[in-house]
Order: sequence, then structure tokens, then C-alpha cells
Amino acid sequence: MNAMTMPDETKAAEKAPFFSVRDIHAYYGESYIVQGVSFEIQEGDIVALLGRNGAGKTSTLRTLARALDPQLKSGEIWLNGEAIHKLRDFEAAGRGIQLVQEDRRIIPGLTVEENLKLAQITEPKGWSIEKIYDHFPRLAERRKQDGVTLSGGEQQMLAVARALARDLKLLLLDEPYEGLAPVIVQEIERIVEQIKALGITTIIVEQNAVAALELANRALILDMGQIVFDGSAQAVLDNVELRNEYLAI
Ligand SMILES: Nc1ncnc2c1ncn2[C@@H]1O[C@H](COP(=O)(O)OP(=O)(O)OP(=O)(O)O)[C@@H](O)[C@H]1O
Ligand SMILES: [Mg+2]
Repeated sequence: MNAMTMPDETKAAEKAPFFSVRDIHAYYGESYIVQGVSFEIQEGDIVALLGRNGAGKTSTLRTLARALDPQLKSGEIWLNGEAIHKLRDFEAAGRGIQLVQEDRRIIPGLTVEENLKLAQITEPKGWSIEKIYDHFPRLAERRKQDGVTLSGGEQQMLAVARALARDLKLLLLDEPYEGLAPVIVQEIERIVEQIKALGITTIIVEQNAVAALELANRALILDMGQIVFDGSAQAVLDNVELRNEYLAI
């Protein structure tokens, strides 16, 4: 063994990426949408996934969460040494990948509390219901209310709370501020800040690129289903050309 290379190899092993996406390709039927996306993220990273409308952000998140649509045809997804690409959506969720979709997917006919309890049906569980209520007093007040009758902002809180109620290793947030009034956006932002402070690895898609970049330490920009930028969030804030070309900010 070459002793000179030892320290670097050891370092590389220690720094094995927490989440690794290797050349994934995904399709809606014949439509080829996710066209060879690769990136790696470290534990605790907050990654802003940005790009124009139709760039493939939602499709990428859905692929990572192993949704049936779009269908992953090739490539690999690894979380903490586990092969996520081989799993179905519910299995990926069982490994700690929680997707909060834009439409929030609150289950009709169930109260806030029932929505949270349902999230805890499978092991391992995440936060207890009591801990969730401590962090989301609005949800505590509305625990007996039908989840679909909550306001948009409250539904977003419930969607994030449901992810916390499960085993959460990687949070995928698709436009968490979408359609919400500024005051509610601030409330959701505070929750996302708390998630960041907890060190939960997060990929956030957001139309408000500046807000996402201020929160994130990393940035990925997608265009036509491919990564066109991978670097620090600050580098995007500093790069006018990049922002003009892909983000219109
Ligand atoms: N179910 C579907 N069937 C076929 N094509 C789809 C489907 N969903 C999305 N697409 C197409 O895939 C491409 C990427 O869409 P996607 O929703 O991933 O973009 P996005 O970056 O999230 O956009 P936005 O910022 O508008 O949310 C678009 O061209 C879209 O029309
Ligand atoms: Mg989208």
C-alpha cells in the first residue's frame, strides 16, 4: 500500500456522501424528462433546487422519492449506503425520504391528529404527536378539525409535520410557500429554519429563488431535465448571468 495516499483515502471514506444520485433518467410514458441527473449531498446540507417552469424540478423530486410517475428507467440513488433506486415509494419513505408535494396531499375525512397518527403507522416513527404540537401550536389548536378544511398555510404545516412524524432523513420540499400569503410564508419559513437548525438534510424547490438561496448552503439548477449548475448557494446569488439565464432574478 502506498502510505502517501492513505490519509486521502481515509478522508474520502469518511466523507462518503450521505445522499448520492447517479445519472438518473426518468420518463412519463414516452416523455423523457429527467435526463441524466447526478449530484451528491452531505448530511445536514440544505440544497435549493432551482430552474425555470417545466425544467423538471418536481419530476426530479418525485423520482428521488420513488413515485410511480415519472418512471425511473436507469441510474442509481443511494441514501446512507442504501440502494433507494430499487425501492417503491412507500419503501423509500420507510428509509427516511419524505416528499412534501406542492398539493400537500392531506387525507380527506381525517382530522389533523388522524393525519399525523396515520403517518406514524409504520416504524420507525419520527417525532411524537406531543412534540409536533409543541412546535406547531396552530395544529394543536386544530387537532380535531378535518385536515382538508385547514387554510392553505395550515395544510402546509400539517404536510411538513407529517414528514417529521415519520422517520426523516431527507426532506424533499416542493414549493412550500406556493399560494400562501406573506405572513403565512414567514411562518413556514420559520419552520424550515427550525428544520435546518435540527440538521435535517433538505432539498427545497422554490419559485422564490432568493428566499431558497438565503436558506440553503448548496444550489442545483436544472434546465431541460439536466443539471446546469452545482455549487454553493452564495455563488448563485453572486452570479448575475446565471440568475438571468435560468432564474429570472
Ligand atoms: N404527468 C406528466 N406526464 C407527462 N409530462 C409531464 C407530467 N408531469 C410533468 N410533465 C412534463 O415534464 C416537464 C417537467 O415538469 P416538472 O413539473 O417536473 O417541472 P418543474 O420544474 O417542477 O416546473 P414548475 O416550476 O412549473 O413547477 C414538463 O415539460 C412537464 O410538462
Ligand atoms: Mg414543479
